[in-house]
Amino acid sequence: MRNAINSPFRYAGGKYYARKLILEHILPHNYYIEPFVGGGSIFFAKEKVQNSWLNDLDEDLINTYIHIRDYPEELINFLKGKPALKELHAYYKNDYVPQSDLERAGRWYYLNRTSFSGIMNKQNCYWGYDDKYSKRPENWPKAIRSASEKLQGVKITKLDFEEVISNVPDNSFLFIDPPYYNADQEKFYTCGFNKIDHLRLEKVLRKHSGRIKFLLTYDNTSEVKELYHWCYEPLEREWNYKINRTDNQKKCVGKETTVITKGKRYKGKEIFITNFETFDELAINNN
Ligand SMILES: C[S@@+](CC[C@H](N)C(=O)[O-])C[C@H]1O[C@@H](n2cnc3c(N)ncnc32)[C@H](O)[C@@H]1O
Repeated sequence: MRNAINSPFRYAGGKYYARKLILEHILPHNYYIEPFVGGGSIFFAKEKVQNSWLNDLDEDLINTYIHIRDYPEELINFLKGKPALKELHAYYKNDYVPQSDLERAGRWYYLNRTSFSGIMNKQNCYWGYDDKYSKRPENWPKAIRSASEKLQGVKITKLDFEEVISNVPDNSFLFIDPPYYNADQEKFYTCGFNKIDHLRLEKVLRKHSGRIKFLLTYDNTSEVKELYHWCYEPLEREWNYKINRTDNQKKCVGKETTVITKGKRYKGKEIFITNFETFDELAINNN
């Protein structure tokens, strides 16, 4: 894929390991939108088109994206000479008081790169850097510069998803990766997402479905399947991933809390919902 790069962030619930599977289901388009961008692993992996719009309600995340796009050298300068150290992580997490948006972005980037799974929610933001597996501080500038290049000309907003979806241009393609339906997402993200939000999402997508194309990824639950009965049959997808980078940690998967063990292999399982016929469905229908 031309100009495919990795996200400059680590991100809980990020789609890095599923990116190939997801890219297979993205239709050709001129306007690309992610209303829940998070770490943006799909935007950074795909070919950039003429117009892109990335959105998330997380204020610090969006402030950091804007600094990567518009002030990469200032951000790099802030991070310069700062080693990945547990004590510095604790200082940025608990004591440091940023005096500007640039300092806020610098603090956030430092914590994101050194926390377990990039979890930034204060209660669950633990030291999670490992010299062997994590991106080392001397490589952060390169990641920031290449992300900055790809973000040039990209619209970046901090809005509720409903406002974004209601205002996307006709014929846009949306990759929609909301928080899971059946998981305690408060553990990962700074903005809460409840059942009412899931219902709002379904309603706004149904309203605009005639003028846009979307790929929606969710946890595989009967409630979600029921909610999106008006879309094409959901595709069940699995992918493998391995946790390499940190000490053993607890992680919430669905409704269960699992102990994540360093070096072990795990399976990601989700459903892909589309409002257009995918190649898989065409193949089934033609057989
Ligand atoms: C599953 S993550 C997206 C992960 C992303 N696809 C990636 O690869 O890194 C869901 C995101 O939704 C955001 N979010 C939560 N509530 C929101 C809302 N009401 N409107 C927009 N974004 C919201 C969270 O901040 C989080 O970044």
